[in-house]
Amino acid sequence: MGTLYYGDNLDILHRYLKDESVDLVYLDPPFNSAQSYNAFFQEKDGTSAASQIRAFEDTWTWNQESQRVYETLILQPGKVSEVMQAFKTFLGTNDMMAYLAMMCPRLVELRRVLKPTGSLYLHCDPTASHYLKLLLDAVMGAEHFRNEISWKRSQPKSHTTINLPNCRDIILRYTKSEKAIFHMVFGEHDPDYLEKFYRFTDKDGRRYRLGDITNPNKNRPNLTYEFLGVTRVWRWTKARMLKAHKGGIIYQSQPGAIPQEKRYLDKREGQPLSDDWDDSEHLHGANAESLGYPTQKPVALLERIIKMSSNAGDLVLDPFCGCGTTIDAAEKLGRVWLGIDITQLSNTARAERGHHQAHGDRARSPRNARPARDPGGHRLHPQTRRHARRRPVDGNRRRQRGIRGGTEARRRRAACRPTIGGQLR
Ligand SMILES: C[S@@+](CC[C@H](N)C(=O)[O-])C[C@H]1O[C@@H](n2cnc3c(N)ncnc32)[C@H](O)[C@@H]1O
Repeated sequence: MGTLYYGDNLDILHRYLKDESVDLVYLDPPFNSAQSYNAFFQEKDGTSAASQIRAFEDTWTWNQESQRVYETLILQPGKVSEVMQAFKTFLGTNDMMAYLAMMCPRLVELRRVLKPTGSLYLHCDPTASHYLKLLLDAVMGAEHFRNEISWKRSQPKSHTTINLPNCRDIILRYTKSEKAIFHMVFGEHDPDYLEKFYRFTDKDGRRYRLGDITNPNKNRPNLTYEFLGVTRVWRWTKARMLKAHKGGIIYQSQPGAIPQEKRYLDKREGQPLSDDWDDSEHLHGANAESLGYPTQKPVALLERIIKMSSNAGDLVLDPFCGCGTTIDAAEKLGRVWLGIDITQLSNTARAERGHHQAHGDRARSPRNARPARDPGGHRLHPQTRRHARRRPVDGNRRRQRGIRGGTEARRRRAACRPTIGGQLR
């Protein structure tokens, strides 16, 4: 269940979202990297995707609007003003500065709508991640920075000769406060690790490793005592040590040897997830999940983030929702969702996922749209163009999904106008 807004997220956030109403924000804004992302669509007649073209062009050019935003931002004393002034000193009025001036007020609004238990994940890439991290330190508080997640986006491409191929994105994770919701995610243990460390098996077949129970802090008089004939500074109190011994989890190889703890594999939930994510399947045209939206992210990535930082029934917001990956993942996981996007073409792609309440009445099928060139004016890679033209709505898939043409399609579209002006539930 959720609400989809069509429009500029700054305006929508300001008008419709109450303070401290959102549990989790994931945003995947345009990255200011002209090469491989942010391909925009142009209709055959060259006109209909004008809002998106405007959004991208204006985003990255310093103009009167950037100047006005900047002046407003620096008026209010504080870290945000300081960091923006520092950026301006360093960058001048270049495209990156224009990008940061676009992002800053949006991040301020996103912090405002987050609950004290909320988290924010900003998906970006190395083009701007270093500036965005400083900006988020100022907006969210440097003490609320949690992780810089490295997400392996694709296999390294070999067509670069002067740089290492770039195949990862960066996801910056911040929380609103210390009280943020967080559920650790566990993966499979590395078989080499198990082989190396979990070398012992009990008579009942339980696999275990041996762990040190001496205390690294040698100045703990209350933890210094004799146990099984050995005097050391231990990690546990004597009472706890005796209980562990009685419970059969202390091992001593021979009299006089330092006792150790038996740590059973079946008591561990798995390998805790690190900040290096290289395990998700990459989206490419042949992937069943691919809708042909150029910057589409895999649902599994969003599911992981949503599971980590929200509970069932919580409100998940994606203010740059593109073709609705976050919406899809939130729906699957029983969260309430809220998506915002400035383009109608992305609405069409979202409708392909089945979120028909999001369908704008003037949205066109991406089959009729083609990506023209990226925001830097470069022609798109032919592969990208082919996918965007080919997918996602051939007749068979439409029928399978119950999407019909003619009157029925018009009726559905009318029933599913974007909820501009709707209220947050
Ligand atoms: C990188 S894409 C997001 C892709 C998305 N994560 C997905 O999986 O489909 C960025 C999106 O931000 C949208 N956008 C750009 N500026 C915006 C603005 N000011 N307000 C709302 N949406 C905006 C673009 O239309 C585009 O769909």
